[in-house]
Amino acid sequence: DRRRPVYRVQGRIFIQKNSCPKEPEILRGVLFRPDDILIVTYPKSGTVWMQEIVPLILSQGDPVVVDTVPNWDRVPWLEARAYIQNLDQRPSPRVFITHFQYNMMPTGFLKVKPRVIYVMRNPRDVFTSYLHFSRMASYLVSPGTQTEFLNKFLDGKVIFGSWFDHVKGWLSATEQHIMYISYEEMILDLEASVTRMAQFLDTPLDSEMIRKITDRCVFKNMKKNKMSNYSLMPSTMMDQNVSEFLRKGIAGDWKNHLTAAEAENFDEFYRKHCSTGPPKTFLKK
Ligand code: PPS
Repeated sequence: DRRRPVYRVQGRIFIQKNSCPKEPEILRGVLFRPDDILIVTYPKSGTVWMQEIVPLILSQGDPVVVDTVPNWDRVPWLEARAYIQNLDQRPSPRVFITHFQYNMMPTGFLKVKPRVIYVMRNPRDVFTSYLHFSRMASYLVSPGTQTEFLNKFLDGKVIFGSWFDHVKGWLSATEQHIMYISYEEMILDLEASVTRMAQFLDTPLDSEMIRKITDRCVFKNMKKNKMSNYSLMPSTMMDQNVSEFLRKGIAGDWKNHLTAAEAENFDEFYRKHCSTGPPKTFLKK
C-alpha cells in the first residue's frame, strides 16, 4: 500500500498507523513507578476486554469509571504521544496498555519492574479478528485478500510485527513481574480469571464483587457499553457497518474463515516457530 509508509524497528517491519509513534523511543521519556500496572497484548488478543476488567478490579466493582470514561482514557496507550505527555499527572496506581514487544521496552521499565499482565490469544483467532479489523479501520493498511493478509501476518509485516516474536519475547521475560493469561482461559472461566487477576493486583474482592465484575465484562454486556465498544469513534475511522469492533468474542472463529490450505499453512508455520512454544490453551480442539 503506497499511501502509508513502512518503517523498521530493530530490523522488524512495521506499517505506520496514524495514532502510533514511528518508533518506541517514545517510551524513553516515561518514568515508570513500582505500583504501575501494564497490560500487554498483541493486537486483537483482548486489549479492550482488559481495559474493562482491570479498572473494575481496582474500583472493586464500582462501574463509574467504565461507564463514564472511554477505554482509551481510562487505560491509555503507551504508544500514543498525546497520553505519554501527561502521564505524570495520573494518580497511582496507573494502568497502561501497550502492544510493544518485550525487546522494545526501555531500561526504566526493566529496572522498575512494574506489574504486567500479558494476554495471549490463539494466533489463528488473532489473525481472523485482525483481518476483520483491518477492513473496518480506515487508518490501517488495507489487508488485501485473506491469503495475502495471512502471508503478511505470518511474516510479521503487520503493525506491531510478528505474533510469534511478540509472544516468545514476553514469555521469555522471566525476570519481570508478569502474570500470563490467555483469552481462551478468560472465555472458559471469566470468574476464575478475574479472581486470579485481582490476586495478582493485591486487590481483595469478595465473591459478590467478582460476580458483578464478570457480569459487566461478558461479551454481550460489554458490547453495549459505548465507552468501550468504539461507537464514539467516527465511522470515517472505524466503520462498524463493515465489521463491529466487538465482533464475535469467541474462541475458535478461525474455523469459520480459514480454508483447509490456509489452516495447514498456519499449522506448519506454528510448528516451526513454536516447537517449545506457547500455552496449551491455543491448541486446536
Ligand atoms: S485491539 O485493536 O488490539 O485493541 O483489539 P483487542 O481489543 O485486542 O481485540 C478485539 C477482540 O477482542 C474481543 N473482545 C472480547 N471477547 C470476549 N469478551 C469480551 N468482553 C470482549 N471484548 C473484546 C473482540 O470481540 C475482538 O475479537 P473478535 O474475534 O474480532 O470478536
